[in-house]
Amino acid sequence: MLDSRAGGRAGGREDRVDASVGHEGTRIDLDGVVKRYDVGEVPVLALDDVDLHVDDRAFVVILGPSGCGKTTLLNMIGALDVPTSGSVRVDGVDLSRASQAERAAFRRRSVSFVFQSFNLFPALTAFENVQFGAAAAERSDAKDRAGDALERVGLGSRLQHFPNQLSGGEQQRVAIARALATGNDIILADEPTGELDFRTGVQILEVLREQAEAGMTVLIVTHNRQISRVADRVIELSSGRIVSAGGPDGGPAAISELQW
Ligand SMILES: Nc1ncnc2c1ncn2[C@@H]1O[C@H](COP(=O)(O)OP(=O)(O)O)[C@@H](O)[C@H]1O
Ligand SMILES: [Mg+2]
Repeated sequence: MLDSRAGGRAGGREDRVDASVGHEGTRIDLDGVVKRYDVGEVPVLALDDVDLHVDDRAFVVILGPSGCGKTTLLNMIGALDVPTSGSVRVDGVDLSRASQAERAAFRRRSVSFVFQSFNLFPALTAFENVQFGAAAAERSDAKDRAGDALERVGLGSRLQHFPNQLSGGEQQRVAIARALATGNDIILADEPTGELDFRTGVQILEVLREQAEAGMTVLIVTHNRQISRVADRVIELSSGRIVSAGGPDGGPAAISELQW
């Protein structure tokens, strides 16, 4: 059993929350992470002493209201941003100390983002969008990977469609296929169902959970408590601090049980 902790300030370790899930090998380790934005007169503590340890093959939901620091947290793990203090280690790389070039290499080869707004190239087909993702990750077999990934998300019959010829749910599945085609096995999904209706959102969660079951590490950020019911592990953020971490009561719910 591996240590999975999350908790409060350096000065108040007693409020630290422990939670464990039974996988081997910790992939993501944040220790004492602070992110302060100095814009305007009052600095914003977007992350306030965050400790987070995520195991391999986990299906994790980071839950909290708008503005609590969810995107900031994901951006730390994905090497899009650096902490003001504290350490971020992912896959053995110390991202808080890495050079620009090391961080760029990490982004290409270790993580893939899925965004609320899909971020597909409108002038590229579904296949080309996914192929582009694999090529950006320096995969020489980008074409094969694109075809496989689109099959995996159930879009084998939409290869030549442009984004504007696809539904929102299909576009998000293309975005997930693009993440899969990179071969990077950490998926960071920022409000991936935020622009989708309930039924479509549920399908997207199914696809993401399948990826975790297939061996990927999947982190989903959401403000929707219902979504957190299907996670192995739920990390709750409030005003930049982790206020709870653990499994949902009674274990993960079936995705078919969700309602919102
Ligand atoms: N680049 C930035 N510059 C200044 N403030 C920022 C920046 N990014 C986020 N913030 C602030 O940090 C806090 C957390 O933001 P964010 O991580 O986007 O929250 P969430 O994703 O939970 O809505 C907010 O108060 C936001 O205004
Ligand atoms: Mg956000």
